[in-house]
Amino acid sequence: ISYDLETSFLQCFSSYSNSTTKVILTQNSSSYASVLQSSIRNHRFLNTSVPKPNLIVTPNDLFQIQTTIICSKKQGLQIRVRSGGHDYEGLSYISNVPFLIIDLINLRSITIDIKEESAWIQSGATLGELYYAIANQTNVHGFPAGSCPTIGVGGHFSGGGFGTLFRKYGLAADNVIDAQIVDVNGKILDRKLMGENLFWAIRGGGGSSFGVITAWKINLVHVPSRVTIFNIPKSLDQNATTLFMKWQSIADKLPNELFLHSVIGLVGASSSSDDGKKVLVSFTGLYLGKAENLIPLMQNSFGELDLKHDNCTEMSWIQSVLYFGGYSINDSLEVLLQRNQTSPSFKAKSDYVKEPIDISGLEGLWNMLLEEKAPTLIMTPYGGRMSEISESETPFPHRSGNIYDIQYLVSWDSNEEASKHIDWMRRLYAYMTPYVSKGPRGAYLNYRDLDIGMNIGNASYEEAKSWGMKYFNSNFERLAQVKHEVDPSNFFRDQQSIPPFSY
Ligand code: FDA
Repeated sequence: ISYDLETSFLQCFSSYSNSTTKVILTQNSSSYASVLQSSIRNHRFLNTSVPKPNLIVTPNDLFQIQTTIICSKKQGLQIRVRSGGHDYEGLSYISNVPFLIIDLINLRSITIDIKEESAWIQSGATLGELYYAIANQTNVHGFPAGSCPTIGVGGHFSGGGFGTLFRKYGLAADNVIDAQIVDVNGKILDRKLMGENLFWAIRGGGGSSFGVITAWKINLVHVPSRVTIFNIPKSLDQNATTLFMKWQSIADKLPNELFLHSVIGLVGASSSSDDGKKVLVSFTGLYLGKAENLIPLMQNSFGELDLKHDNCTEMSWIQSVLYFGGYSINDSLEVLLQRNQTSPSFKAKSDYVKEPIDISGLEGLWNMLLEEKAPTLIMTPYGGRMSEISESETPFPHRSGNIYDIQYLVSWDSNEEASKHIDWMRRLYAYMTPYVSKGPRGAYLNYRDLDIGMNIGNASYEEAKSWGMKYFNSNFERLAQVKHEVDPSNFFRDQQSIPPFSY
């Protein structure tokens, strides 16, 4: 069956275009495996048992995307769209039914207009490429998006996208002012042509339900020429629990210019022995200004951390991007253009905290972390600009009322142990139930988690509410209405795509 599907697809495609051999890879093509694996960021999904696409299309232009959509519909092939491949559950490159991947690797141009303080970026560009392009032209502009430079613009912007500037400027999606999409009929639409409903939906509702978003126009934001960074790690015997309690009471109330997250993990674990493992809480900050202004501010609001000049490093904004991207601030900016990255196998989940977690809750949490080898919790403070934007402004609903979000991560080396670690992650999530948001328990779409619910086949709107309300809360209904308008036959679908609203 799949042989017929592929041949028919190729015939259909070549009836429109003569570039078939260059842009379409079959399972027999010599570069099929390397292109497929090139942006898989979760090693868990490199397993041979994971279903593979019948074809991979790497379009060079929009016409080839239009053709791919038209021919896929005709042949009954599903489409997965991949930009940077960072989806936590691999939804941009895995499906259980015959499918092809549209991989946007060749559509990655970035055009910056400094005078207008804006930029057009194609979806296949990475955040690193965007930051690099901005820094090449100016040292007083930046963009508020995620920390990992290999993330793709396509998935990131369409799912929200936050990073160290978001308390000052909101999400990446909040700073999108135009976009270009190829819809289910193969039509190319910009903001004016797609209308405000669809333009609303793709800024946080996930791209995969609505079409292939090919480019985005963004507003650049202002950053000072010098910013300050600090990192203060504390173990439990250095009062980490008390400091974390204090952090919970101030993190979302700090000035918008200060981003202070806490990253919690273990130190002292070796591969042979668990003895001496200790919980470590690192308070890491980015201040949009100089150390001399940051230090009195921290003395007033979080004196217990005892931030000193010695803890602070002043640098340019782009060096802070290197720092939060895991590089040294003295590395050449070209590292931001690297696409190859070794990736562990991991499982992640997310939660929102609206009331500080009490001491006994934290102590139980530390004990749970000690059961694992390589757990990480990233606690990201909200407040600031995020609280000023209404819940319905974009599909991303987690605005005012959230102190911080938690990302839980666990990674491992051998895939034979996967179920043990995933099981631990689920127990941790159950443990956290009393301490996090409820009715619905919020989750962040870009930290995709299929445990919170998924579509079985052509799921209905009512069925999909089980997971949809967690990501989108009351915006889920509007998303389903937009889906009904633009793709009523539910062609663009996956395990967590928005179903068309049924009236
Ligand atoms: P990928 O290509 O896998 O796409 C993700 C989803 O979007 C899929 O459903 C896909 O079909 C769809 N999609 C992609 N491109 C599309 C397009 N052009 N049109 C339509 N649909 C499209 N997040 C965050 O907010 N802040 C952070 O700091 C980080 N840090 C981080 C680090 C690391 C190591 C990872 C692996 C992930 C993150 N993330 C993150 C999460 C990240 O924002 C999320 O995984 C994004 O969806 C990734 O976008 P990609 O384009 O890379 O993914």
